[in-house]
Order: sequence, then C-alpha cells, then structure tokens
Amino acid sequence: MERNASSSISAIKNVTVLGAGIMGSGIVQVAATAGYKVKVYDFHQKALENCKITIKGSLARFEKKGKVAREESEKILENIIYENDFEKAVAEADYVCEAIPEILELKKETFRKLDEICDPKTILATNTSQYSITSIASTTKNRERVIGTHYFNPVVIMKLAEIIKGLETSDETLEKTIKVNETFGKQVVICKKDTQGFITTRLTAIQRAEAYRILEEGIATAEDIDKAMRLAFNHPMGPFQLGDFAGLDTGVRALKSLEQTYGERFKPSQTVERMVDAGLLGRKVGKGFYDYGEQKCDK
Ligand SMILES: NC(=O)c1ccc[n+]([C@@H]2O[C@H](COP(=O)([O-])OP(=O)(O)OC[C@H]3O[C@@H](n4cnc5c(N)ncnc54)[C@H](O)[C@@H]3O)[C@@H](O)[C@H]2O)c1
Repeated sequence: MERNASSSISAIKNVTVLGAGIMGSGIVQVAATAGYKVKVYDFHQKALENCKITIKGSLARFEKKGKVAREESEKILENIIYENDFEKAVAEADYVCEAIPEILELKKETFRKLDEICDPKTILATNTSQYSITSIASTTKNRERVIGTHYFNPVVIMKLAEIIKGLETSDETLEKTIKVNETFGKQVVICKKDTQGFITTRLTAIQRAEAYRILEEGIATAEDIDKAMRLAFNHPMGPFQLGDFAGLDTGVRALKSLEQTYGERFKPSQTVERMVDAGLLGRKVGKGFYDYGEQKCDK
C-alpha cells in the first residue's frame, strides 16, 4: 500500500474525522494508514462500531491480497480512537475532516462548533459533495482555514481528492491540505472557484439524472442502462450501481440542490424520490435499484 510518514508535515499529527459512515470510515482508514493519530467521532455508537468492523474487514482483505502485512494492519488499527464526545474528539486535532450527512445547516452548525473549540491553526476540511465552502465557513471566525476535500467511494481505493478553495481559504491552507492528501495516497485536482457541485459532482449528477429519466420513460431497464455504460464507455459501474453504492438519499439530496442552482436538468425522477421515501437507499440498507440481500456495504 502507498504510505507516507506524516512527519513530512511536521505540524500535522492528529487528524479527526467527523461522521463514521461510508465516507468517514474510508477517510479514517487512509489517514491511519498514512501514520496519523486519528480520532473518529459520530453521535451514533452503532456507527462507530460499524466503522471499526468496516476498517478491520478492509484491512483483512488488503492482507489477503498481500497489500499490507499483519503487523502493519495492527499498527493502523492502533492509530484509531473511536469517540462519541465531540469536544474530546476535536480539541487536540491539527486537521479535521468532516463527513457528516449532506445537509448544509448541519455542516454550518458543526463548523461553528469546530471553530470555537479547535486551535485557530487547525485546518477544517469538509467532504461535502457540492455545497459552497464559503457558505459552510460563514459560521466561523477563522475562515481562511476552511477548505473542501471531496473524496470518492470507496475512499481506500479511489485515488482522487478534489480540493475546493472557498472565497476566503488561504493559500497556506490550500498548500497544507494538498500535502496532507498526498500523504493519504491521493492525487489532487483543484477546483479554483467555489461553485456548487465543483467539477466531479456536476458531471456525475447530470449523467445520473438522465439515466433516471431513461428508466422512467420505459426506454430500458436499470440493468441494461448500467451494462451500456460499462461496456460502451468502460465505466466500472453504471449509474444505478453507483447510485446504490453511494446511497440514494445522498444522491437525491445532491440532485435537488443542484436543481436549485442550475435548473430542471438536475431534477431527480419521481421513482428515485419514492425509493428514498420507502427507505430503499441502496447498498447500505441492502436494497436500492438492486437487491443485495445480506451483502450490504462491503468496501
Ligand atoms: N457516499 C458517497 O459516495 C459520497 C461520496 C463523496 C462525498 N460524500 C459526502 O460525504 C458526506 C458523508 O456521506 P456518507 O455517504 O458517508 O454518509 P453516511 O450517511 O454513510 O454517514 C454519515 C454519518 O454521520 C453521522 N452523523 C450525522 N450527524 C452527525 C453529526 N452532527 N455529527 C457527527 N456525526 C453525524 C451519522 O450517524 C452517520 O454515521 C456527505 O457530505 C456526502 O455528500 C459521499
């Protein structure tokens, strides 16, 4: 596995991840693998327990493939503390990465609290898929240290970190964040303008919205639309597989919000909205466009 000692960014030793869900678990694992001391916070004890299971399972698979030695896995696991007290989780952090649900008001409130508790030099990063970094930073006093770091699922596999500069993000914060992400084993692209959906969310969302329309118009099945995208364009997953993988609730929220900014073209289909109402959220619950039985979320 790609691994760099965190000593290369001597000021940053302690990383905190907020939210122990799909993305949080992956961010915790890459940070712990890079040698940082990582605290992960979630207010649901069950989410912390699942996060631990997910990371152990992922490392076991890496071991099996010969990508990581048993002793290394043990060290990585020792680098992680699971915490359900917000203040304890963030007080000592040099770098915080937020991965709580994609609800703007929730993120703004979380950054307000972070800004109060953390040292003014602590970098505050958000894994928002599309919201304005400037808006998330608006509840903080030290806005120059707030930045967007958008990862992709599964974080332990996907190479990209899309880094987004808010209107008031400093160049120093940008430089340090790039370096931290390089130690995470990521390659970076910079979104220079804080615009909704950045580069990647706009591109993937428009494709997903069109796929939902093709399904709703009865033109093809979800299976065939996915197959077409895999075989025609070499996409590893079709839009329905990807939607299930990321969580249909997250996907619908993203589309609705992009629709507000860019108009009709991002409107989610009624079918997918009803699926979210019914709790058919994709892999994380075992059923979405596809049925996963007991398989659920397996990174
Ligand atoms: N799922 C994806 O493929 C994907 C990809 C890129 C970015 N993102 C973004 O990452 C973020 C997290 O998404 P996810 O898919 O991991 O969600 P998720 O639902 O899997 O996990 C969110 C976790 O946050 C916890 N949580 C809720 N409110 C909290 C709070 N106030 N403080 C701390 N923890 C809280 C929940 O208990 C849950 O465990 C979102 O902003 C999403 O848009 C998701």
